[in-house]
Amino acid sequence: METLVTQTSRLRSLPMKKPEGHKAVIQRYSSRVDQSVESLRMAVLGYQEAPGAHTGPDAFLSHLAEMISHTGAPFHHDISMCVDDQGFTNSMAVCYWQDEAQFAAWSARFDQWWAALDPSSLSVGLWIETFAVAPEYRETNLFQEYLRGLSACPMAKIEPMDESGYWGAARDRFAASAHDDFAPDVHSDLQADLHRQTLGKRIIVSDIPSRLCVIRSGVTWANCGDEQLASFESNLKPKLDAGMAFLRANPEETGCCSLRQVTCLSAEGTEQKEAYSLGIFLTYRHLEKWAHDHPTHLAIYTRALAERKKYQEKLELLTYHEIYVLNENVRCEYLNCQPRTGVLPYFTNQTPDSTASLSNS
Ligand code: HEM
Repeated sequence: METLVTQTSRLRSLPMKKPEGHKAVIQRYSSRVDQSVESLRMAVLGYQEAPGAHTGPDAFLSHLAEMISHTGAPFHHDISMCVDDQGFTNSMAVCYWQDEAQFAAWSARFDQWWAALDPSSLSVGLWIETFAVAPEYRETNLFQEYLRGLSACPMAKIEPMDESGYWGAARDRFAASAHDDFAPDVHSDLQADLHRQTLGKRIIVSDIPSRLCVIRSGVTWANCGDEQLASFESNLKPKLDAGMAFLRANPEETGCCSLRQVTCLSAEGTEQKEAYSLGIFLTYRHLEKWAHDHPTHLAIYTRALAERKKYQEKLELLTYHEIYVLNENVRCEYLNCQPRTGVLPYFTNQTPDSTASLSNS
């Protein structure tokens, strides 16, 4: 088997982390984008309702239909929801493009609509977070029958790989790790300011560091029989919840600027037996450190590996993750959102006097 990683390893200036002779317990897969794809784009579109104001998915669904049905529609999107620490209900769509021109066409139309909104008269909060991902700065770890995120886009090619089941496997899966050690280019830790006034305002977050790292880590229990479902609910889920609670509570220590733990929805807004965590970290090193060293992820990891060993090819709980290391093309804007939404507490917030100068990244 020859994967992208092994092809790239011939040209490496940095060694792989994979131990000699390593053999993964079960076969995992990775998705590769077609060589014709130069840049990937991702947009998180959010819809936030105050405690007690959520009446079901319909209002969000019709808002979303308006936002993604026009020219340049994303290649793929999925929807989800969570209730945040402040009790607000956040419905969101994560949208993916594999074509700059198509993304630009969509953005032009979206920006026109977005700039005309008056945040002080909105009955809900709205946000947009967009990321550009260079193909060599993304890595994926998945089961071939469970494709989500960028791996569910039409141009993704799903391939078996050997880089799994050891520390540093994720790093090895980044093609860029052949020459990039992901050293942070930030000189300070996160400092939260939770006292900013954001409700009723348009906030464009500026001074976002250039090597932010995004992880989308998901799980489905839809295929689990009674035994593996019970094990997920009593053994793994509480550990996952504890890990996510720790990240949300300790941004300064972990570099985690945003962590949304969401339940997936069908296109009609029905809750699925599926969930994921969408985390934004200051750098890949911050994420890696938490995953390798912190007891909360070690507890998840150890449990998951024990289940893999026990069930091997009969494992019914399916997981995936995708990690992106971003460049400077990050845009985060919030209209009438509560102050802890997304990356709002951590970077400089511009509150423009006029809405005319919105620039697209
Ligand atoms: C159901 C939830 C989860 C399970 C079962 C799980 C389990 C695992 C396992 C088994 C690995 C090794 C993967 C391999 O190489 O084959 C791993 C790696 C990793 N996980 Fe988790 N995890 C979960 C959630 C998360 C979450 C929510 C995050 C971050 C917010 C995370 C961050 C990472 C990272 C960064 C690695 C890569 C470590 C490396 O290869 O160096 N995990 N996880």
